[in-house]
Amino acid sequence: MLLHLSTWPEVEAFLTRSRTVIIPIGSNEQHGPTGLLGTDWLCPEIIAHHAQKDHDILVGPTFNIGMAQHHLGFPGTISLRPSTFIAALRDWTLSLAGHGFTKIYFLNGHGGNVATIEAAFSEIYAEASYAGRARGFSLKLKNWWDLKEVMPLANRQFPTGHGSHATPSEIAVTQWAYPDAIKTVAYSPQIAPTGPIREALDFRARYPDGRMGSDPAQASPEKGGELVRVAAEGLIADLAAFSAEVAP
Ligand code: NI
Repeated sequence: MLLHLSTWPEVEAFLTRSRTVIIPIGSNEQHGPTGLLGTDWLCPEIIAHHAQKDHDILVGPTFNIGMAQHHLGFPGTISLRPSTFIAALRDWTLSLAGHGFTKIYFLNGHGGNVATIEAAFSEIYAEASYAGRARGFSLKLKNWWDLKEVMPLANRQFPTGHGSHATPSEIAVTQWAYPDAIKTVAYSPQIAPTGPIREALDFRARYPDGRMGSDPAQASPEKGGELVRVAAEGLIADLAAFSAEVAP
């Protein structure tokens, strides 16, 4: 069930069956010369939307702008600074909590979001603690590539040149979902350099075409489809475990 294609009575009825909601979360940022700017929010959205097709789960709207300051040297990147991101996550979460959702599961598609999302969770929990709110409200962050069996599959598909940004696995997922938007180019070098992440101009100087350690030419829609199916299964299992957690 997709929240944005539902009505409030349908969400109210869902709340009698479950108190869990999934929020795909990512970033709108450059992904090399062939990767879509939406890659990091599209991947968790594609996986969550696929998973809800044959399971009674609720997927909220995708939180599609994240912490991407290091990619701002490339056109099309949009970033929230960490303090803004935390404030937006707080309001987003408290809106849902106010309606009775007690378990909010963020399926993340951008490594650069992790520290800030964790900090947002600390802020939200601290607010509950100071107010002495009831037990049982839980937030969870899961990167889609950390779902069960996803990285073993990606490692088999891409034994070399997976890298850490504009990876063939994430690009394959978007190719499967949006085959009309597949782009190609001759990469030079074939496998991009690796190194640290600092500010935007340093990033562009170190990684001139935007990739980090990756060879996206290995991506294909077929490999993306395999990843989506495995990730969706992993998501359903992880979500069931999270929903079943009971506060003592
Ligand atoms: Ni990415």
